[in-house]
Amino acid sequence: MKKLKHLSFAILVLCTLHLSAPCNGEDESVAAPMKRTEQEALYSAIQGFVGKWWNGSDLYPDPCGWTPIQGVSCDLFDGLWFVTELSIGPVHDNSLNCDQNVEFSPNLFALKHLRSLSFFNCFVSPFSIPTSNWEMLAESLESLEFRSNRGLTGQVPTTFGELKNLKSLVLMENGLSGELPQSIGNLIDLRRLNLAGNSFRGQIPDNFGGLNNLLILDISRNTLSGSLPVSFGGLISLLKLDLSFNQLEGEIPLELGNLKNLTLLDLSNNRLSGGLTKSLQELSSLQELVLSNNPIGGDIMNLEWQNLRSLTALDLSNMSLTGGIPESIAEVKGLRFLGLNDNKLTGDIPQKLQNLPNVSAMYIHGNNLTGELKFQEWFYGKMGRRFGAWGNPNLCYPSALISRSYNVPFGVKECQKEEVMKYETNLDFNSMASLGFSVCCVNGLVFVVEGLVILVLDFNFWL
Ligand SMILES: *[C@@H]1O[C@H](CO)[C@@H](O)[C@H](O)[C@H]1NC(C)=O
Ligand SMILES: *[C@@H]1O[C@H](CO)[C@@H](O)[C@H](O)[C@H]1NC(C)=O
Ligand SMILES: *[C@@H]1O[C@H](CO)[C@@H](O)[C@H](O)[C@H]1NC(C)=O
Ligand SMILES: *[C@@H]1O[C@H](CO)[C@@H](O)[C@H](O)[C@H]1NC(C)=O
Ligand SMILES: *[C@@H]1O[C@H](CO)[C@@H](O)[C@H](O)[C@H]1NC(C)=O
Repeated sequence: MKKLKHLSFAILVLCTLHLSAPCNGEDESVAAPMKRTEQEALYSAIQGFVGKWWNGSDLYPDPCGWTPIQGVSCDLFDGLWFVTELSIGPVHDNSLNCDQNVEFSPNLFALKHLRSLSFFNCFVSPFSIPTSNWEMLAESLESLEFRSNRGLTGQVPTTFGELKNLKSLVLMENGLSGELPQSIGNLIDLRRLNLAGNSFRGQIPDNFGGLNNLLILDISRNTLSGSLPVSFGGLISLLKLDLSFNQLEGEIPLELGNLKNLTLLDLSNNRLSGGLTKSLQELSSLQELVLSNNPIGGDIMNLEWQNLRSLTALDLSNMSLTGGIPESIAEVKGLRFLGLNDNKLTGDIPQKLQNLPNVSAMYIHGNNLTGELKFQEWFYGKMGRRFGAWGNPNLCYPSALISRSYNVPFGVKECQKEEVMKYETNLDFNSMASLGFSVCCVNGLVFVVEGLVILVLDFNFWL
């Protein structure tokens, strides 16, 4: 008993020190009621989503007080409780789950302090987002999310453009289609815009480039076409830009070089062309640069890769790139992933690449790289199949370097003595054959059997 008294005294002290809501919540629910209209609006809004069977006043007589509803948050405004967050869908065991026939009750828009509204895995049968009433939430709504709703079809209402205080708009993994409304470009407070994984088509509106508070822009996995707006150079706050898996074409605009804080740029799996834009090397905060699977073309040597000093992942595979592997890539010390495979790269492979301390995958296969692969045995041992150099017909690894070891680069042939090759290729095979020598080819290299074979294998002896 005595202990209990102490405890309540401690709570009392705490509460006097912090006159904030959580401590004296119970008192306040008595002192601070909820307006009948607000309460009814909440019940009716939820009932529209979860079904008529749901009787809010019965189940949750005090939704902001002692009978809280999972997915609903409240806050005090002038001594009264108002709903600030509503999230529908199976996030927790006791979450509000959607009915087959979902209905947007007009009462939802009467929740005038609603800051955050989200729907997860809710709309299953075909349903379009209503276009009217959104302006009623313009003053309060900061976050709107429709996520993983396979039944959510139709277009994005242009009226979303009236939600001028929106900081986060997430419409990912739904069945939405049509063009992206220009009006979204009016939401200049937006920090996050995620429209990934729908069926949006058409061009990216130019005015999206005016969203200069945006930190994350993800419109990946849609069917957008046209070129990347030059206006994107105005997205100066941007940290992540993902436009992968669309049908974008044209060049990477020079203006992207303005995005000094960008840490992720993923433009992979589009139809971009016109070479590697020089200004990419100005993206000094970049950690991940993924441009793979685009017919971009051009010379990989045009960029000073050492400027991208924060880079950890560089994927430039399948881009029709020409030129040699730049040594400057070996100066990007934080690199973990390097994908240069399936291009038209030529020349030698810089040995320095093996000294990238954190590299865990390096793919240079499917090019026309030549000469000896000069990495040391420990490197092949460390990388295993995460080093890919196969499919370079004129590349080989020196046999002397890797004797009696399983650590050889997969799919790369062993070099023969270079001098022999030169010597052999100068021979006239036809006349050799007619003289009774048999000629055979192993691993693309020529051996001449009988008599000359000694000369071939012991050539080092002559040096
Ligand atoms: C909810 O339950 C209360 C009392 O249990 C009842 O008076 C009211 O009519 C019910 N409301 C609905 C919408 O079913
Ligand atoms: C870029 O990041 C720095 C450091 O986080 C920050 O101070 C600066 O305001 C950012 N720039 C923009 C344009 O957001
Ligand atoms: C390589 O890129 C082209 C587009 O440039 C694409 O059509 C093709 O499917 C890509 N190849 C692979 C293996 O992804
Ligand atoms: C390598 O990775 C470690 C661990 O993540 C990190 O602390 C270190 O800075 C990295 N090295 C470089 C050169 O980036
Ligand atoms: C690869 O390069 C060699 C010269 O090093 C050239 O003869 C050959 O045609 C090239 N192969 C391809 C497929 O481009």
